[in-house]
Amino acid sequence: MKKIECYIQPYDLDTVAEAMAVEGVVGMSVTDVKGFGVQKGFTRGEEVKPGEYRFHPKMKVEMVVLEEDVERIVKAVQASLKAKRVGDGKIFVSPVDDAVRTRTGARGRDAIV
Ligand SMILES: Nc1ncnc2c1ncn2[C@@H]1O[C@H](COP(=O)(O)OP(=O)(O)OP(=O)(O)O)[C@@H](O)[C@H]1O
Ligand SMILES: [Mg+2]
Repeated sequence: MKKIECYIQPYDLDTVAEAMAVEGVVGMSVTDVKGFGVQKGFTRGEEVKPGEYRFHPKMKVEMVVLEEDVERIVKAVQASLKAKRVGDGKIFVSPVDDAVRTRTGARGRDAIV
């Protein structure tokens, strides 16, 4: 299992969620966060002083998925974000050791499918 963690613009949440529904993603958590990327939260033309940064509101979308589905889902998230603007988002993929469906005790992949 892998966790796909996407930092996106809040206004892109519905777009990404709809794309994920098409891909058959069965679970998702979303959190309001704030953050910055390589540009430290500054827009083009602004002077970025060393050590300065600005937080912008973002949405974090987390999905734990089967390993064989990772590439398809990552590509679908990226494809759904059509603006291609600086600050549009970033996707991280990390390993997940285990999962438990508390109702049944199902473990691992049986807990997420
Ligand atoms: N290295 C990181 N660690 C944790 N969160 C990050 C990291 N990089 C970006 N983020 C999160 O992703 C959001 C979007 O990042 P952003 O799209 O600006 O990345 P970028 O690498 O600067 O790419 P771009 O050049 O397209 O702006 C940030 O506001 C932050 O919440
Ligand atoms: Mg950026």
